Amino acid sequence: MLAWWQKAVFYQIYPRSFADSNGDGISDFPGMTARLDYLQDLGIDAVWLSPHYPSPQFDCGYDISDYEDVAPEYGTLDDFKRFLDEAHRRNIRVILDLVLNHTSHEHPWFLESRSSRDNPKRDWYIWRDGKDGGPPNNWYSIFGGSAWEYDPTTDQYYYHFFLKEQPDLNWRNPEVKKAMFDVVRFWLDMGVDGFRLDAVSTIFEDPEMPDHPVQFTQLDLYKALLALRGEEKERAAYLRAQREELFKYQRDMPEVHELMQELRSVVDEYPDRVLVGESDQIAFYGDGTNELHLVFNFPLMRTDRLTPAWVRANQRERLAALPPGAWPCNTLGNHDSPRVISHFGDGEHDAEWARICLALMLTLKGTPFLYYGEEIGMTDLPLQDIGQFRDMLGVRAYHAFVQEMGMSHEEALAIANQVGRDKCRTPMQWANAPNAGFSPAGVQTWLPVNPNYTQGVNVQDQLDDPDSLLNFYRRMLRLRRETPALIAGEYEPLHEDAEDYLAFLRHSEADGQTCLVVLNMSDRSHRLHFDLEATRARCLFSSRTREGTVDDLTELFIAPFEVYIAELTHRI
Ligand code: NOJ
Repeated sequence: MLAWWQKAVFYQIYPRSFADSNGDGISDFPGMTARLDYLQDLGIDAVWLSPHYPSPQFDCGYDISDYEDVAPEYGTLDDFKRFLDEAHRRNIRVILDLVLNHTSHEHPWFLESRSSRDNPKRDWYIWRDGKDGGPPNNWYSIFGGSAWEYDPTTDQYYYHFFLKEQPDLNWRNPEVKKAMFDVVRFWLDMGVDGFRLDAVSTIFEDPEMPDHPVQFTQLDLYKALLALRGEEKERAAYLRAQREELFKYQRDMPEVHELMQELRSVVDEYPDRVLVGESDQIAFYGDGTNELHLVFNFPLMRTDRLTPAWVRANQRERLAALPPGAWPCNTLGNHDSPRVISHFGDGEHDAEWARICLALMLTLKGTPFLYYGEEIGMTDLPLQDIGQFRDMLGVRAYHAFVQEMGMSHEEALAIANQVGRDKCRTPMQWANAPNAGFSPAGVQTWLPVNPNYTQGVNVQDQLDDPDSLLNFYRRMLRLRRETPALIAGEYEPLHEDAEDYLAFLRHSEADGQTCLVVLNMSDRSHRLHFDLEATRARCLFSSRTREGTVDDLTELFIAPFEVYIAELTHRI
């Protein structure tokens, strides 16, 4: 018997950008609750909410100043409970974002901690004396600059892997663990269905805190990488490896697994909850039963071109590396990465690529995570002016490039748009109406609305169009729900040398069902021959509308970019 989270399709909501009910340009829980019917009708099973807690928003909510409440701009705790109940009433589960690595610098724990060296919460964060008039060591923050911030009140430095407004908690202090486990229980008692765990790899750092061994500065590395041309692959690989080395003492410390096991035991006190790790490290599955239930298969999306060979290699490695009992988890987009079409489209066949990407997510083995707006084909929105940026990552990159690298404003803006993440966090496009129906006309939304809502990239226009991407999502989600082999079946690659298309079987012994999936990732048609036990297959789904046909597997015609899913029938 599979657990609900093995069968579910998750949909990530970015709470600032989904639905604004009170016209302040920011989404909120009453707005999100009003859109639950839409999600039910779309056919998703679970929602992952990016942080909805009070936050000064230095990192768009990933800097939390109160773990047991709701950001006032999103509503009240009662509004959240209503959202949760209404979601449950529609059989939609809800998981929250749990940020363990750091709090906001405005969290009362940190305010206490920084107030004096002998404050009882001093050791809840990581404080050190400086060295030779500078920070305690040469570590960097992943967001740029030193990982240490000097605090004159107590003449010491505190450590932050992310922004200086996100001080790292000291997880070697048992009181921190207790306080955070209380937070976990607070939400589980309320009925949430689990958590997506933020930045798990960075929870611990090397206690000896040795200097990193890299000769380049972080900015030098960026500069060198930016200056490289595409063909200088070896040099780029070397520089990227150096960039990894920069953080070798700040990530992936062994103690984190013990902590994950303890967290799992807490969560296991409650029936049917799930933990999903923001990491690509298979090690977070533990032995397959004792750490996280799911860990994102990020390697799949780390390419600029999805090719059949890329997907096959990824599946071969990933599935083979999973410990027994571990369940895969696939995604192609989230609030930190470009939108699916902007990332994987080729500019010419974007509509086709959007369909291929979804088909891949819904037919590979594992739990899929989709990102709000991808179902209508939302694309990245590069911002025109640095004043529009909300993501500090983009803002800092811009200033560093202008001030320290002497770039022009245009060049710096282009790179800030690449590095920054605002482009994929713009308001959901509900209608061909002012502000895309997200906020009332005339309201300034927290990030600009992508003007392509006037060109059909909105829910309202697509709902009634049988050929829209939205209806493709609805059809495919329905098919997946009704097709046990697509959920439970083992993955078996076919035609492993094919360059243009991906073909594989999903075979479920328990359900007595085998499906053939062919995703043509090219603009060429193909006549395929499958040497399988069955020679015929009943088409369950095709982007070419040929459902219901019984096809000959010894000579199967596949159109350009076709998504073809069929159930094998017995030899006739
Ligand atoms: C990962 C989150 O996905 C990202 O948005 C955030 O900036 C960092 N963790 C820090 O919390």
